[in-house]
This record gives sequence, C-alpha cells and structure tokens, in this order.
Amino acid sequence: EIDTSDLGFREFEEIAISANRMIERRRQAQKEMQGLRDLLKNIIDSMPSILVGVDPMMRVTQWNLEAQKVTGIDPEMAQGQALSTLLPQFDIQMARDAINQKKTCKKSKVIFVLHKDKGYVDITVYPLTAEGMEGAVIRIDDVTEKVRAEEMMIQSEKMLTVGGLAAGMAHELNNPLAGIVQNIQVIMNRLSGNLPQNHQTASGLQIRLETLNAYIQDRGIDRMLLSAKESALRASQIIKNMLSFSRKSEDCFAHADLRELTDNTIELLKNDYDLKHQYDFKQLQIRREYDPHIPEVRCEYSKIQQVILNILKNAAYAMIGQDNAPLIVVRVYQNRNKAFIEIEDNGPGMEQEIRERVFEPFFTTKSKSGTGLGLSISYFIITSNHNGTLEVESTPGNGSRFIIGLPL
Ligand SMILES: Nc1ncnc2c1ncn2[C@@H]1O[C@H](COP(=O)(O)OP(=O)(O)OP(=O)(O)O)[C@@H](O)[C@H]1O
Ligand SMILES: [Mg+2]
Repeated sequence: EIDTSDLGFREFEEIAISANRMIERRRQAQKEMQGLRDLLKNIIDSMPSILVGVDPMMRVTQWNLEAQKVTGIDPEMAQGQALSTLLPQFDIQMARDAINQKKTCKKSKVIFVLHKDKGYVDITVYPLTAEGMEGAVIRIDDVTEKVRAEEMMIQSEKMLTVGGLAAGMAHELNNPLAGIVQNIQVIMNRLSGNLPQNHQTASGLQIRLETLNAYIQDRGIDRMLLSAKESALRASQIIKNMLSFSRKSEDCFAHADLRELTDNTIELLKNDYDLKHQYDFKQLQIRREYDPHIPEVRCEYSKIQQVILNILKNAAYAMIGQDNAPLIVVRVYQNRNKAFIEIEDNGPGMEQEIRERVFEPFFTTKSKSGTGLGLSISYFIITSNHNGTLEVESTPGNGSRFIIGLPL
C-alpha cells in the first residue's frame, strides 16, 4: 500500500489512490475466494459420502472429512498423492473410463472394507470437464445397512410364504402318515406269535404260525416292515417339526436369564447322542463371553434353547475333521433395547449362495443326515414367536456367526 500523505504531485496522488483501490479490491476478492473455498470445503466435508477429487494423472486434489475418517489419512497428506496408494481398494480403471468417455460411471453393492469391517458401497465417478479443471470426483457411499436390510426383508418375505406352505403341508400329511405307522404296527402284531387269535386263525387255515414266521424271516419281510416303520416315524418327526411353523402361543413366556439358559443348552449339546458318535468333546473348545449386567428377557425358555442347540449343533458339525482346533465362542450381551446371543465358530464358513439360503425349510448340505429344518424353525421361533431377529454372517474360510436378537 502506498502512503499518499507526503506525495508532492497531484497526479502521483491520484495514481496512488487508484492503485490502493485496486489493492483493496484484490484483497476483497481474495477474501471472498477464501470464503468460497471454506464454504465448499464445509459442504463437501458435511457430506456423509466419501468424496475424492482427482486430476487426470489420478493424483488427489480433494479429500473430504469422510475420506479422512475411513482411511485415517488427513487432507494435507492426501493432497497430490496417487489415488492408488491412498485408496488401493478402489478400481482406478473406473475413474479413467469416466474421464476418457466423459461419462458418469456407477457401480453398486461393491464389497469394500470400511472402518476395518467388510461392507458394501455404491461408487459413482463424475468426470470434470470444465476448462482447466479436468479430472474426476469419486463418490463412495456406505450402503451396508441398506443391503443388509434388503436381504433381511427378502428373507422374511421368503420365509412367510415357504413357512405357510410348510405348515399347510404338514397338516395335510399328518393323517396319512399316522395311518401308515399304525397299519405297519398292526401288521407286525398280527404276524407275531404272542396273540392267541393269530394262532387260531392260522390253524383254521391249516398253517403253522412258526412256518409263516420262518418264511417271513427268510424273505426279509420282517426287516422291511421295521424299516418301513422307521421311515414313517422319521417322516412324522419332520412333520411335527414343521408344525411348529404355525404354532404361536404366548402361554409359556417367562422371564429368563439368558446366561443360564445358554449354559444349560451347552450342557445339552455335550450330551447330544448323535454328536457324541462323531465328536470328541474334549477337543471342542467352547468359550463364553457374557455381559455380567444383562437383564432378564421374556421368552419361551425351551424354544430359545432349541434355537441355540440347533445353531451349536450346526457349528459342531461344520467343524468335524477340520485342521485348526475347533472353537465356538458364545456371547451374551445387550445393545440398546435388545439382548443378543451370538454363536461364532471357526469352521469352514459359507459361500454367499449357501448363506442366503440357510433359513429356508429343507435347505441342507448334509446329504443324508440333515433335514434342513433346524435353522428355518429357529428363524420362525425367533422372528414370529419372539419378535426378534436372527442373522448370519459368514464368509468362506472365516467361520460363521449367528446372531439372535431378542427384544427386552
Ligand atoms: N455353522 C455353520 N457353518 C457352516 N455351514 C452351516 C453352519 N450352520 C448351518 N450351515 C449350513 O446351513 C445348512 C442348513 O442348516 P439347518 O440347520 O437348517 O439344516 P441341517 O443342519 O442341514 O439339517 P438339520 O438341522 O435338520 O439336521 C446346513 O446344511 C449347512 O450347510
Ligand atoms: Mg441343523
């Protein structure tokens, strides 16, 4: 700035004044510019999305607060760095395509690690085409919650239809099956040597019951009858399980301590007859992580036990014969207005196609031994009988985690 007070000539004074005016205007403009910059920064920082600006060389020109939060890298450090080193998960080709084709590129439900957890994001790349501003803006939105909610909605809708179908079928099949079992039982009785009436009828026809029985045994008919009866009984058992889809009773609800309930269920698991054949329980480690302050939960004790037992059994089966030491972690805790029971194993985990179907009735990967009803019944018990939630998290090689949520 020029001091005009001791300038001798008038002309000089005028020049000086207008020069000063110019300087003042420039200052003003700079201030406005800074104000605009701050405003812009505030705007992009207040966005819940990750916003990253890049130049055509894929070097970072903008890095908003959300980007800083997710990566831990602050904007000063990010400025001018290669995008590929700052956000290695991002597919850089997408940004190149957007810039080259001058078109917005979008990808949804991309698997992304955010805050150390795997989640889903939508990625949009907007090309910048203004003079002297070439490059692109990358926007990354965390849609994990949305994807999960969608999955759960599809899940519960699917279950509503299949569940209704299963319950209806169970009712229809119950009677004919009972007929089969009963009739087989009657046939067996009428062939046995214990009933006097059998002997009477036989001798009236001039045959000996002993001869008839020898024939039956020689031709394996007795074994066939027995196996027919066992098959029918197994079918009845399945039907009985399916009927629980339709049952909804409030009678047996009572307050229960979930830690005690879980402990009792773990004891049941250890005494499971089927499992004992295949398992050495000394090798299976069950670790408990219980929140000591959890309030009691109103629930149907035996039903919740059934659910936990199902999940524990599945976990134990999944870990049969694996190389690393089998471990189940059981957690009981509270989060806001819900109590949670979490059962995590370090087994083989599941592919997405399997994970998405585990709650469907009759979905099983156990070719002979499974009915595929365990988890679907569990799902009904938790969601329709208890107004709770049942979720699964699992990726191949990383074990599985089932999370039961019960309203407090
Ligand atoms: N912890 C787990 N690890 C890996 N896969 C699992 C796990 N839990 C369940 N699954 C998969 O989910 C499928 C369905 O489980 P569900 O309990 O409904 O039926 P099942 O165990 O096959 O039969 P059932 O329970 O009637 O004996 C299983 O066959 C298995 O493929
Ligand atoms: Mg099962």
